[in-house]
Amino acid sequence: MEVRKAVLPVAGWGTRFLPATKAMPKEMFPIIDKPVIQFIVEECLDAGIENIVFVTGRHKRPIEHHFDINTDLEKHLENAGKTELLKNIMEISRITNPIYIRQKEQLGLGHAVLVAEPVVGYEPFIVSLGDVIIKDEENILTKMIEVYKKFGKSVIAVFEVEEKDVSKYGIIDGRHIEKDIYIVDNLVEKPKVAEAPSKLAIVGRYLFTPRIFEKLKITPPGKGGEIQLTDAIKLLLEEEAVYAIKINSRVYDTGTPLGYITTILDFALQREDLREEIIRYIRSLIVEIPEV
Ligand code: G1P
Repeated sequence: MEVRKAVLPVAGWGTRFLPATKAMPKEMFPIIDKPVIQFIVEECLDAGIENIVFVTGRHKRPIEHHFDINTDLEKHLENAGKTELLKNIMEISRITNPIYIRQKEQLGLGHAVLVAEPVVGYEPFIVSLGDVIIKDEENILTKMIEVYKKFGKSVIAVFEVEEKDVSKYGIIDGRHIEKDIYIVDNLVEKPKVAEAPSKLAIVGRYLFTPRIFEKLKITPPGKGGEIQLTDAIKLLLEEEAVYAIKINSRVYDTGTPLGYITTILDFALQREDLREEIIRYIRSLIVEIPEV
């Protein structure tokens, strides 16, 4: 069956960024001039996924406006002759089917995915988390779809993290079966270093068979009292195989202040219009700042 839909859970409070996230979705935070969520949406569109299901919450309206057509702004840019900006603005609204569904209570990532069930129906689908930007020459979702086509089962993208970071992620235990592909034996959500079965961390891109919904319905609250997607995958493993694809891409986790700052810095250094000035500025700081 074709993979046609992607679920983007975007209802979280963004507590790590309060008070900035009190009225403003963290997904709309800019990486210079592009909001984080736009990177995630573009990745889906580039992989041929046109139906984007946003699982939103009360204070997430700006996301809907961002992907909508803004005729007033388009007219203004056209009249002002700002063709490049106009093209850019029009590109953003190129999702053919944005679908917004409310997660009324925030009971965890697993619960957010379950909320999308009536829209997804009984077909395979992608889940992309709104915090993580992946930079790679080849689209990661396209690669995951290829693995799905080969095995017909769920696929999780993982990346290798440093030992000290295993407690920030879902960690898999897997058997290597071919280049960068593993068959998953177990998963643990945010384990302590001593309890982590490996350093292969779930990066925030999943491709599920619809059977995950059955499992989400019976997943008890786990880490942090929340219904964890990782726990539902563990239940899924009892019935069908789950594969993992190890990515060697650059992963930007914008969900923490440090990750957000380093992402912006990295992207700025890749831009011709900013690079030189930024380097000059960093150099001047390094002279001034005593070593920590
Ligand atoms: C979620 C998942 C975790 C995964 C991570 C990737 O955690 O629960 O398994 O490794 O996303 O970013 P969160 O970062 O939402 O706490």
